[in-house]
Amino acid sequence: MERTYVMVKPDGVQRNLAGEIISRFEKKGFQLVGLKLMQITPELAGKHYGEHEGKPFYGELIDFITSGPVVAMVWQGQNVVSVIRNMMGKTNPAEAAPGTIRGDYAVFMGNNVVHGSDSPESAEREINLFFSPEELVDYKKATDFWLYGK
Ligand code: GTP
Ligand code: MG
Repeated sequence: MERTYVMVKPDGVQRNLAGEIISRFEKKGFQLVGLKLMQITPELAGKHYGEHEGKPFYGELIDFITSGPVVAMVWQGQNVVSVIRNMMGKTNPAEAAPGTIRGDYAVFMGNNVVHGSDSPESAEREINLFFSPEELVDYKKATDFWLYGK
């Protein structure tokens, strides 16, 4: 089953939105397979956001993501990468639709409360960056039958 890397960013943790964000993915039907509260080092931040190195907002992005703890997670489910991106809403909260996480809880581009991998390839890279294999839990959920019909 497909997996994705999701994190509640430092603004989301400080604004007490971690539970709300987890709850949305739980209620949707996705399965949590990894979870931890952690402080990102500048080195890890550089690896995670390497694709943005050299862009004008890169310095601010690294300062922000290392400014406080994040809730790092791995979620599993059918089409979980693209569905979670849709549930998060557009990168710029000013353009994110109401009903999406960023549309409901954020106003400013830099502080958009949540991250989700943008493709299955990014998801694999990011999961390996943030979690060791032993930290991910394989288990069967009884609700799968009601979600997927098998
Ligand atoms: P992430 O989930 O954080 O990766 O966001 P994203 O995938 O929706 O957007 P992207 O990877 O393109 O950008 C990463 C982060 O950089 C965004 O979440 C924004 O906080 C920030 N960012 C992206 N573009 C801009 C920009 O043009 N200006 C500023 N200030 N920040 C930007
Ligand atoms: Mg991104």
